[in-house]
Amino acid sequence: MTSLVVRSLCPLDVPAVVRMEGELFGAGAWSRESIVEELSGPGRWYVGALDGDTGELVGYAGLWFDGFDAQVMTIGTDVAHQRRGVGRRLLGELLDRARTLGAGAVLLEVRVDNEPALHLYESVGFERMGLRRGYYQPENADAWTMRLDLRRDGADQRAGQRADQRADQRADEGDRG
Ligand SMILES: CC(C)(COP(=O)(O)OP(=O)(O)OC[C@H]1O[C@@H](n2cnc3c(N)ncnc32)[C@H](O)[C@@H]1OP(=O)(O)O)[C@@H](O)C(=O)NCCC(=O)NCCS
Repeated sequence: MTSLVVRSLCPLDVPAVVRMEGELFGAGAWSRESIVEELSGPGRWYVGALDGDTGELVGYAGLWFDGFDAQVMTIGTDVAHQRRGVGRRLLGELLDRARTLGAGAVLLEVRVDNEPALHLYESVGFERMGLRRGYYQPENADAWTMRLDLRRDGADQRAGQRADQRADQRADEGDRG
């Protein structure tokens, strides 16, 4: 893979995303129906990374913007293409999009034992906020809630508290990015 092309995901990408979901998330993988719903859901923005040589979809990621903050819904890189910058590029696209939308912060949940994702998120400035016990089902695995403040001064405490409350409300929405 000499170059990477990033574009919006479309319905034709669903089979490749379903395959990668199964390989990357196992029992916690989203169903085909969930993926189709997500791609056209309100406030959602999904992108795919393609191998510039072969056109193969090698990664995907999605964001939800609720008018205040953005939530990383998911991010994944095909097993055969990991550790080559795909995930970092996709996360960068999501953060750029969140800034363009005027989001105050970006939120996400990540399994406490997911070292690759934790390293990726912390390397771009996400901070751990709290622990959600049993967040991932059926594995019953715990999740860190993480947050990246996009406000320039990072000092608007009241907005931060509102974001935290909305993160609580979204705990049942099923995001895992
Ligand atoms: C997390 C994930 C998307 C990273 O994708 P990737 O394309 O391999 O990531 P990149 O090559 O861009 O690496 C970016 C950073 O992630 C971290 N990272 C990636 N793989 C790692 C590993 N195996 N161990 C430790 N850190 C790792 C590093 O900080 C890395 O930066 P560096 O290469 O400068 O050290 C990928 O591992 C994945 O798809 N995992 C399964 C799905 C998943 O767990 N998604 C996250 C849900 S919260």
